[in-house]
Amino acid sequence: MLTGIAKQFGTPLYVYDGQKLKDRCAAFKKAFSRPDTRCFFAVKANFNPELLKIIFGAGLGADVVSGGELEIARSTGLAAANIVFSGVGKTDEELKLAIHEKIHAIQIESEFEWDALQRLGAVAQKTRVSLRLNLDIDAHTHRHITTATHANKFGVPVEAAERLAKKIIAAGGMLVGLSCHLGSQIKEAAPFHQAALALLAFAGTLRHPLEFLSLGGGLGIAYQPNEATLSLSEYAHALEAPLEGKPFRLHLEPGRWLMAPCGQLLSTVLGIKEAGGNTFVVIDAGMNDLIRPALYEAHHEITCLTPKTSTRVATVVGPVCESADTFATARSIPAVDAGDIVAIENAGAYGMSMASHYNGRPKPAEILVTGNETKLIRRRETIQDFILS
Ligand code: LLP
Repeated sequence: MLTGIAKQFGTPLYVYDGQKLKDRCAAFKKAFSRPDTRCFFAVKANFNPELLKIIFGAGLGADVVSGGELEIARSTGLAAANIVFSGVGKTDEELKLAIHEKIHAIQIESEFEWDALQRLGAVAQKTRVSLRLNLDIDAHTHRHITTATHANKFGVPVEAAERLAKKIIAAGGMLVGLSCHLGSQIKEAAPFHQAALALLAFAGTLRHPLEFLSLGGGLGIAYQPNEATLSLSEYAHALEAPLEGKPFRLHLEPGRWLMAPCGQLLSTVLGIKEAGGNTFVVIDAGMNDLIRPALYEAHHEITCLTPKTSTRVATVVGPVCESADTFATARSIPAVDAGDIVAIENAGAYGMSMASHYNGRPKPAEILVTGNETKLIRRRETIQDFILS
């Protein structure tokens, strides 16, 4: 079926499995035993509206980080009350939009953000805010996706947060929650457990009624066949155990875990080239289509849609004029030939949402497969899109 889709729509092509996405949303929600737990999908992982509709249809809300993501989420019919707005630098326009829409909560990351909100009328509008803390917890993940150590730009350090929380409360602001996000692709329980304890401790010092504690996203997946990860139940336990008997609603903001395994990037092998002792398999997808390997040296499995009986050790590269445009280095992969279609696996999260036009390359099309049904959910861009404006 995938070969037919690739032939019909061309490559590079993102293909998503709608049923798998529904199943993962249901499994994620089911893992938490506290009945009032709320999940907000981190829209940055993938903002295709058709995929968002599946996720929101499964009862999740949205965690957005820009006015653009807020508008996309709203365009699918999601109620504003199901949206939280995170991010370290929100403009006045974005804050005004969030105030006007009366979203569930704006997650404040600095004192200047609260000052802006006050200036924009948040107190009179009863805008709900939560305070994102920087808990100085190292989640042992790639340095580019670690967000909660003291060296990171995110959140408010605990000492300053106490002062800021008091300032918000004194001004009559509606401080309804505390939040944190430790980073992404986390594979250990301890940092999550530590974060839950730290948010609870901070909530205890405030002596102000709070509705929720948001533990952010971050749960990792196995990109490599034998990669050890945290199971959903271990993850849920690490967060829920400290909250036992406490009056706070648990908020979560999953992105990768829900979406990554539901997407593949299909690409055609353009040719094979021997140079400097390397076998280069040149494919038609580039780092502009999927930047994770170039940016984080991330591993994505590469499979071939036509079954192969043998393997070859090869370096898989794209057409972009950068040496970082490499999807696998000296890796044993199926013995592909020119014209074969390969699938780069686990590309559903932070794939298309991070795609760019580098080298004048139009972004790929996106296809949603649900059972036997195939739907084009974003058309392939054309060069005309760049030339005519
Ligand atoms: N909440 C907040 C405030 C976040 O900043 C993020 C991700 C999430 C939730 C979702 O985290 P997840 O469950 O997906 O780990 N581009 C990188 C990942 C960057 C994640 C940034 N923040 C990658 O491709 O690995």
